[in-house]
Amino acid sequence: MSEGDAAQMEASLAAVAEAGIDIRHALFDRFFVAFPDRRASFMVVDASSRRMTDETLQMMFGLAKGEGWVWPLVCELVHTHRAYGPLPISEYDAFIDMTVVELGKAASVAWSKGCAAAWQHHADELKAMIRRARAEWQAALPDPVTAG
Ligand code: HEM
Repeated sequence: MSEGDAAQMEASLAAVAEAGIDIRHALFDRFFVAFPDRRASFMVVDASSRRMTDETLQMMFGLAKGEGWVWPLVCELVHTHRAYGPLPISEYDAFIDMTVVELGKAASVAWSKGCAAAWQHHADELKAMIRRARAEWQAALPDPVTAG
């Protein structure tokens, strides 16, 4: 946990809210340009893009604050996503990194090297947690309809 990280991250979230920018639009456009075949996995992009963007930001911010609810939420997320087909870990990594990049663009002058480093640190922590949750589900439920 780092109080300094959380404070810098919160300031950038406030700046984006103040600017009235909803980063999910640019984020999902970017994600589908990088992974065009994934577009068909989404039935309701408008609904899912709200939750995927919000929860990704919440998880990184929660990790910065040392919140205990992050791990169970990551486990739930990974389990839910097993129903959406085999999702390569590289797509999770890319989605998380793109979330940070789009937040940085929207935060504009409120974005600093320190702020970027704080988000990236917790982005990397989230990626590692997702790997662990996938491995644990795979061990507990090794024969799903789709390999998760
Ligand atoms: C940390 C990253 C992510 C978080 C927090 C997250 C979270 C969510 C949430 C909360 C939902 C909505 C579930 C519901 O309403 O029942 C959702 C849906 C979905 N997510 Fe994610 N997600 C993440 C990453 C990804 C990635 C990387 C992919 C694809 C490679 C993906 C594919 C999907 C799909 C296909 C749906 C269903 C969409 C639909 O039916 O319209 N997610 N996600």
